[in-house]
Order: sequence, then structure tokens, then C-alpha cells
Amino acid sequence: VARYAVAGNPVAHSQSPWIHGAFALQTGQSLNYERLLCPLDDFRRTVQRFASEGGRGCNVTVPFKFEAYALAARLSERAELAQAVNTLRFDPAEAGGWYGDNTDGAGLVRDIQNNAGRQFAGARILLLGAGGASAGVLGSLIAQGPAAITLANRSADKAQALVEQHRNWAGQHGVPVQACGLADCGSGYDILINATSASLAGAGVPVASTVLAPGALALDMMYGPAAAPFLDWARTHGAEARDGLGMLVEQAAEAFELWRGVKPDTAEVLATLRAKLA
Ligand code: ATR
Repeated sequence: VARYAVAGNPVAHSQSPWIHGAFALQTGQSLNYERLLCPLDDFRRTVQRFASEGGRGCNVTVPFKFEAYALAARLSERAELAQAVNTLRFDPAEAGGWYGDNTDGAGLVRDIQNNAGRQFAGARILLLGAGGASAGVLGSLIAQGPAAITLANRSADKAQALVEQHRNWAGQHGVPVQACGLADCGSGYDILINATSASLAGAGVPVASTVLAPGALALDMMYGPAAAPFLDWARTHGAEARDGLGMLVEQAAEAFELWRGVKPDTAEVLATLRAKLA
């Protein structure tokens, strides 16, 4: 039986084993999905060993998405653009073996469009953060052709660098993308996406509520208690609040398709997961 795993540190609370188990059941695929705890200084050897023992793919989570990018011998266009990998597939017949993809952006886009029912056409988007989480989704957001995207970060120079990395891509899609600090990111956005880890640091929401247009969608990529302060803040200021659980299930479905060639139905799995965690 083909083996898959979520590779990260920590991985104990990851929902990925449950999600991929549900996808396997639904699609009639036979596979094992496990947790692969990687020592902070030993990601590469841990996943290599997993492959030599029958591992055929990994979901890569914090803090290894950049190391997974460095490990992959071949990359999808979107992983190349993000310079981060969240999905590895081991192809034994290929030189180097590892194919790297990034399904985070596609997962976020599907969640916003299909699950939250929002359109990108005409939307002004504010993306908060310039770390791995933000890098993984910026290219996919640009490809949807919104009216404009602003990338705001505590250290504005990091936001500037990430925008620079996407300069050609944004030009190809005709989307204006600008970088700024958190205090000067403007107002009236239709879609606000929190990709910072501010809440894990116990900090409050790092922007003023004027960033929200009336009826805006405010999405935190986290879920559970970590997302609560941002979601409470969003509701208080009249926005539609959404956690990262839908994105988690959608990016997993994209990874499952890359590995198994079949796309699971996400709606039922997301609903069951939400009930399980409530
Ligand atoms: P991840 O892989 O989750 O993106 P990361 O690469 O460490 O993690 O990035 C964390 C992001 O959260 C960064 O954008 C960081 O801002 P800086 O680049 O200025 O460090 C942001 N962040 C973390 N703590 C924050 C806080 N208290 N207020 C605002 N932003 C914060």
C-alpha cells in the first residue's frame, strides 16, 4: 500500500491524516497516511528515509516549506513562483525523485470562490503577512485577476521583496500589486486575508478596522483558537468572518489529486470536519 504523510514540526495536531483518510474512503483509494515528525535540523534525511521505506508523497507544513522547495528536483510553475512547496510527490523513476508543488493558493482560491461564494473580479484584496503562508498564495490570487492586491507586512521590506518576486506574473495578468507596512495599507478592501502568525504571538489584529469595506470577507488562514481573535474582530466590524479550515481541506484535495489522479468531493469532508472540531 502506498504511504503518504504530513511532514512538519509539530504534526501532532494536524488534521491532514483524518482529511486524507476521508478522501481515500470516498474515492475508494487504498493508501496509508501518517504523521512524520521531522527534527528541525533533519527534514531532508527524514523525508528521504520515508521515501526509501515506501513513502510516495508528503504534505509539508511549518517550518519546512522552503526546505521542501530546495529538496525538489522538479517544480510546478506555482511552486517556482512561491519559492515554497507544500506538497511533495516521490517519483522513483525520475532523477532526484521529488516533484514539488504548492496547493495552498489553489486551496485558498477554491475556498473563497466555491465555499464562501465570493468573486475575484472587481475585488480589492488586502493580504497580511510576507512569510511562507503568504508566499504560497500570492501567485494564485494574482491569477484570479482581481482589481488590485495590497500586500502589507510588519517589516515592509519583506512585503516589497515578495511583491518583487511576483512582478512579472502580476504584469502578465494585468493586476496592480503593491507592498506596504501595516499602518499605511489604505482602506475599504473587499477581501482581507490574514496570513500572519500575529495571533500565535498573542498579539492583536495588526491593522485598523477601516481596511474593511462594508460586507467584506475577512479570512484567517488559521483555524481553532488561534483564529478566534481575528474572527471576533472581523465580526465586530461587520465583516463576514471565515477561518482556514476550508482552505485546509481544499489544498488537501489538490494534493490528493496530484498523488492519486482523482479529485475528491470536498463539501461533505469539510462539513464533517467542522462538526468534529466544534
Ligand atoms: P508562516 O510560514 O506562517 O508565514 P513566517 O514565515 O514566520 O510564518 O511568517 C510570519 C508572518 O507573520 C510574517 O509576515 C511576520 O511579520 P514579519 O515579517 O514582520 O516578522 C508576521 N507576524 C508575526 N508576528 C506578528 C505580529 N505580532 N504582528 C504583525 N505581524 C506579525
